Amino acid sequence: MNLPGSLFHSSIGKKFLMALTGLVLFGFATGHLIGNLQIFSPPEKINHYGHLLESLGIGLWLIRGFLLACAVVHVWVALQLTAENRAARPQPYGVEFTHRATLASRVMARTGLVVLAFIVYHLLHFTVRLQHPEWSEHTYRLADGTMVRDVSTMVREGFASLPVSAFYILAVGLLAYHLSHGVVSMVQTLGLKNEKWTSGLECFARVYCWAYFLLNAAIPLAVLGWLPVLSRCLHR
Ligand code: HEM
Repeated sequence: MNLPGSLFHSSIGKKFLMALTGLVLFGFATGHLIGNLQIFSPPEKINHYGHLLESLGIGLWLIRGFLLACAVVHVWVALQLTAENRAARPQPYGVEFTHRATLASRVMARTGLVVLAFIVYHLLHFTVRLQHPEWSEHTYRLADGTMVRDVSTMVREGFASLPVSAFYILAVGLLAYHLSHGVVSMVQTLGLKNEKWTSGLECFARVYCWAYFLLNAAIPLAVLGWLPVLSRCLHR
């Protein structure tokens, strides 16, 4: 059997690819959030972390390449499955189905596309630093004397703008909503869901997604000074 062929050409193979790439992207999103929360510690922490990642050198580029490949496959297969579903169901579902499918599951393609646009914007904002090339020049001296890029100042300056922060908060909200259905669907497709713990899984997905949204949103909100306790942590 030609495995790559059947993965890319059968519906079940495509669903499996979606779940697998979704799992990788979910892992990245969680790890990235944990890394970003170091912004609430003294600047040494997140700047040291940024330096550690950069010092992976070629390894970092391999990880980036792998994540990019997962994102491309995830979006490409999602668009194909959406088109196939539409073609198989030219008439919109009636009231009965709509009651069973959650809103999150019905707007997966739309939330996914907004998140994709957000990621492109985010890369231009913080990684390419298109609007603020001076962020590449900001440096910070670590306790051991090493000069590194000042990620802490970049994040604080980046979120000082209200429209930029508002867009981030909206995007992480939609990403959390996308994940609220995605996590359950991923577990089901990978064959790990069973009757016994369905409600536990749904509960986990709900708690995870709320936590994911609130913790991500806390960063721009704290920079804007709207969360006094956390805002004080940013100015130590
Ligand atoms: C408030 C929330 C966020 C903050 C503060 C933040 C911050 C950052 C920072 C500082 C960088 C590194 C830029 C550099 O190279 O110096 C970065 C990169 C990146 N972020 Fe975020 N981010 C946030 C949310 C997200 C979300 C929700 C996603 C999508 C899941 C995301 C995806 C990425 C990606 C793909 C990169 C590029 C990683 C790389 O190639 O090194 N970020 N982010």
